[in-house]
Amino acid sequence: MADQDVTELTKNDAPIKARGLEGVIALESELSFIDGQKGELIYRGYDINDLADGASFEEVVYLLANGSLPTQDELEGLKQELQSERALPAPVLDILRNSPDDAHPMAVLRTAVSALGLYDDEADVMEEMANRRKAVRILAQIPTIIASFDRLRKGKEPIAPLDHGSMAHNFLYMLNGEKPGKAAERTFDVCLVLHADHGLNASTFTSRVIGSTLSDMYSAVAGAIGALKGKLHGGANREVMRMLLDIDDQGADPAEYVKQRLAEGERVMGFGHRVYKTMDPRAAILRDMVKDLSEEAGEMKWYEYSMAILETMRNEKSIDPNVDFFSASTYYQLGLDPDLFTPIFALSRSAGWTSHLLEQWADNRLIRPRAQYVGERDKTFVPLEDR
Ligand code: COA
Repeated sequence: MADQDVTELTKNDAPIKARGLEGVIALESELSFIDGQKGELIYRGYDINDLADGASFEEVVYLLANGSLPTQDELEGLKQELQSERALPAPVLDILRNSPDDAHPMAVLRTAVSALGLYDDEADVMEEMANRRKAVRILAQIPTIIASFDRLRKGKEPIAPLDHGSMAHNFLYMLNGEKPGKAAERTFDVCLVLHADHGLNASTFTSRVIGSTLSDMYSAVAGAIGALKGKLHGGANREVMRMLLDIDDQGADPAEYVKQRLAEGERVMGFGHRVYKTMDPRAAILRDMVKDLSEEAGEMKWYEYSMAILETMRNEKSIDPNVDFFSASTYYQLGLDPDLFTPIFALSRSAGWTSHLLEQWADNRLIRPRAQYVGERDKTFVPLEDR
């Protein structure tokens, strides 16, 4: 249907109805494109496979925010900016210290990012350059929040961020207290590249809805973190690992385990997608990474369970895995705790959220759809004293 027809229908009070906004084009974006039939993903024109092979996360951050790959000097400039913004304001660190040890790390991250806005003098300055500086701060500080909270909840002191090195290197260092090996750093970096942007997914849409009211970047990113936390979105990677660990604990047959879940009418996390009708290209890259990591470690069980589940889901439901399915066992084999998987997703996706906000504000229009009213009408009001 032509744009004009949609507008006319809306004006005439007969809006298009699309449950869950499925298939609705809400805005234009130059950031990323998904071909759900072919299983392709591009960021700013570059295929995800090429970026995963050749680009660092910082290059992707630059690409998403600026529209072109950086030169050496531009990349160096961005890295230095990111490195210089890593430390947290002391009151935000105090919030982490005072958070319950058993709090959901995504709830802690959402709270801490919201609090960051309180200590940024530019929080409500909506000039483009101020928003670009905030994007850098948010990207630089999210890893410090996640790593600091993880250490505090384990009774350890947070480790101050390095003033050098990549985001992947610094994050793994702050988390574990030792510098990561080159292979672990590169694997983690590729994971960050793969999760950086993905069209108008639920959390990105959330960030743009908040941004479209001309609210500030911290509010929009905190809202996006709230959306990502749900298990139908980013929270799925944690659920996938829970399932794999459960299979292992029970000594269960993975295929039978999944069939049982389906028979009980449950969803299998890490499968299905609103847009992809074939294998998510990120899942294919991560599958190969899990295989390599497993072979290096001489422990194939996570890969084998995953492949058995994949076959079963294809046979039983004709549903393919999404990014969360193989990212779970990748992160697990890097020694990361399962409840950090979704915060790590947020660490990477903050590149997409902040770039989408810059794009939204460059040509803002309030995002405001309609609901179909299915409630009652024409009721007679009864005053309180007569009810
Ligand atoms: N396990 C079992 N069945 C699934 C499924 C899953 N993970 N995902 C979809 N289906 C089934 C649905 O039951 C439905 O079957 P039906 O038509 O017989 O009722 C059909 O596939 C279509 O699903 P629907 O819920 O309409 O698709 P959607 O576009 O609304 O949902 C997701 C997309 C991502 C929410 C959904 O696939 C899901 O819940 N996946 C698991 C969570 C997950 O991995 N999320 C991360 C996404 S990156």
